[in-house]
Amino acid sequence: MYITNYITGTVIRGLGNGHKFGFPTANVQPDFPVSLEKGAYAAWIKYDGKRKKAMLYVGTRPTLNLHELTYEIHVIDANPMLYGKHIAFKPVYKLEEEKKFRTQKGLITALNDYKCTAKSLLASSYSHVLTPRLDDIDDVMKIIGQAKRRMKEQGLDQWQDGYPDEETIRNDKRKHQAHIVRKWFETAAYAAIVFGEDPYYENIDGKWLSDGEPYVVVHRLAVGDKYLGLDLAKHLLKFAERKARSRNVKWFRIDTHPDNIPMGNLIRDFGFSLCGTVQVRGGMRLAYEKQVSPF
Ligand SMILES: Cc1cc2nc3c(=O)[nH]c(=O)nc-3n(C[C@H](O)[C@H](O)[C@H](O)COP(=O)(O)O)c2cc1C
Repeated sequence: MYITNYITGTVIRGLGNGHKFGFPTANVQPDFPVSLEKGAYAAWIKYDGKRKKAMLYVGTRPTLNLHELTYEIHVIDANPMLYGKHIAFKPVYKLEEEKKFRTQKGLITALNDYKCTAKSLLASSYSHVLTPRLDDIDDVMKIIGQAKRRMKEQGLDQWQDGYPDEETIRNDKRKHQAHIVRKWFETAAYAAIVFGEDPYYENIDGKWLSDGEPYVVVHRLAVGDKYLGLDLAKHLLKFAERKARSRNVKWFRIDTHPDNIPMGNLIRDFGFSLCGTVQVRGGMRLAYEKQVSPF
């Protein structure tokens, strides 16, 4: 699985063999050294302000008995003139290892197969929110472990006492409040979306916006290391909001550790207002609330 940022580079003159195969490619000279394994990838390419589905090949073209490492991009279902342009590309899924095909026909058959797979992969939405199956719980615990480690590294004393443990997550699942984000077939993030009164929110030092009305809460929000910076936490908040809307629940509450800056920023960006502080498992937390947006 390859979740990288966009890699930029300039399109340089290639040997032009790709045209003969029906798969013209842009040979890219990356701006900075990149470390990508050799092979074929489904990828996004950005050029002229557009983003298009593409395939990336990293390799030496052994089928043609060539030896120089190249980065080649084939834009799917388009044949733009890219020579000399500055472009950006992002491999998202490794389709196959590099191979030395016995014939050019073999290479072309493989390229057609890669294209079908790449198209369907890139067409499917980036991330999906699902309820985890029992055999997803190990992955969820890995993500939570990574989040705990990051908090420890940042000197945060949140989630450093064993919470949330596997029993907490199994309990979330039993109560149908466990949710995961699946991205490129991997479990990438976790959150518990909880309806009903939260005992920790009964006593607030401050004032909630809503008064006695039903609300939804997101707890135990964690994103895996590889998936940071992809807005998956926001994705889960949006999903919770959509769920609340479908149940006609008009309020959304959340809390976070006062020193958890990224979470605080996310919460405020999402439109929450600070309402006060609450005591959660013996620790002080900032308590936020917002009205569920109507769309
Ligand atoms: C997605 C993709 C995968 C490829 N995989 C291989 C491969 O496994 N082995 C190989 O020898 N060439 C592979 N090729 C490279 C072709 O050999 C290459 O596109 C062709 O030689 C054209 O290169 P040129 O435009 O520099 O002449 C692949 C190309 C693409 C677009």
